[in-house]
Amino acid sequence: MSNKNIQSLRGMKDIVNEESTLFTYFVDNASAIAKRYGFSYMETPILEETALFKRSVGESSDIVNKEMYNFTDKGEHEVCLRPEGTAGVVRHFVEKKLDRAGGTQRWYYYGPMFRYERPQKGRLREFHQFGCEVFGVDSVIEDANIIMMIKDILDFFEIGFKLQLNSLGDQNCMPQYKESLVQHLTDFKTELCEDCQVRICTNPIRVLDCKNETCQAKLVDAPKITHNLCESCDSDFKKLKEILDFNGVEYEIDTNLVRGLDYYSKTAFEFVSNEIGAQSAIAGGGRYDRLVEFLGGRPTAGVGFAIGIERLLELVKMKETKEDIVYMGALDEASLNTVLKAANSKRKTTKTLVEYTPRGFGKHFKLAEKVNANIVALIGEKELNEGTIYIKNIDSKEEYTLKLEEF
Ligand code: HAM
Repeated sequence: MSNKNIQSLRGMKDIVNEESTLFTYFVDNASAIAKRYGFSYMETPILEETALFKRSVGESSDIVNKEMYNFTDKGEHEVCLRPEGTAGVVRHFVEKKLDRAGGTQRWYYYGPMFRYERPQKGRLREFHQFGCEVFGVDSVIEDANIIMMIKDILDFFEIGFKLQLNSLGDQNCMPQYKESLVQHLTDFKTELCEDCQVRICTNPIRVLDCKNETCQAKLVDAPKITHNLCESCDSDFKKLKEILDFNGVEYEIDTNLVRGLDYYSKTAFEFVSNEIGAQSAIAGGGRYDRLVEFLGGRPTAGVGFAIGIERLLELVKMKETKEDIVYMGALDEASLNTVLKAANSKRKTTKTLVEYTPRGFGKHFKLAEKVNANIVALIGEKELNEGTIYIKNIDSKEEYTLKLEEF
């Protein structure tokens, strides 16, 4: 066995120190917003049957085709690390027969996702998403609602964004649109990139978001999905735009926005930032009215989104919240127990850090500075005898003693 030090895997990283502080700051505040919108927290396993993602995200998608961490476990089951969160939540919904119960479900979740992509800035193999899924609301008002919720989250963290919007039609209008797109592309088939030559047969709309310049050039005169929507999709798309306009949410229509997952119908959207480089999508989502059915449930409307936490954290700055940090210490061995007891009760309301080794004044103040404490509270022989505690407020430089019970 080699003696080489073991390092974390490529595209995977530890989240620690300032980053973990930001991470929990983000999750806490995004969760609070989701709860205000009526979402409750749920978790699904990180490991699922591979078939779940084949049937939902789609066999023709890059995620399933090229990027899955799949393997056969000891019981000969084909399993994989989840590449995204929606499929697991839908699996739960169907497994628990909630499709038969009627009513509405609103869940939010956060956690690690895994995609075997080529790592680069903003693109990891293990990354984290914060997502929300809604079941049983067959109204475009819900689509607008979740878009506004993402906007609320981004506004809270003062993150600028562009919202790109499209409608992908449904089972009535999408097949016809695909046919007309294929007809248009067939004339140039051999000029398209290798991937797109395959996509024409497997899932032609994926040609629309190919990054290859030649493919993009061939799309300039291609038919647009938004010009080919059936009546119901067209009226939903108009209504969505009206609600967003009425609420002052700015957006751009991007008729080439198809998303990399095959389960979407009607609304599809992405939030992008121009401050984080090439991997600019900070959130994505849309409606998936047929997904419950694809996974064996009764037809149930669904809509949701996920935010890429690592990409977002590049843009999040902690808001200054001045929280008191109390540093406590003993000036001699005999006072230590009293310090520990007082610290335990102080902790019920205030962040309180205790130095376990008795020390002199000067050393305690140096240590307090290191942990950014703004209140230093010390007990020595004199205080112990009087039942008091010495306090110094570092900001105001005030020094005083308090009765222990007033501390
Ligand atoms: P997605 O667009 O594949 O959608 O991922 C959502 C977000 O996850 C992206 O916008 C991006 O910020 C982040 N992300 C994706 N891949 C990576 C990566 N390799 N490294 C870092 N961040 C990444 C979904 O996953 C859908 N499940 C969203 C959804 C929920 N749609 C409906 N409900």
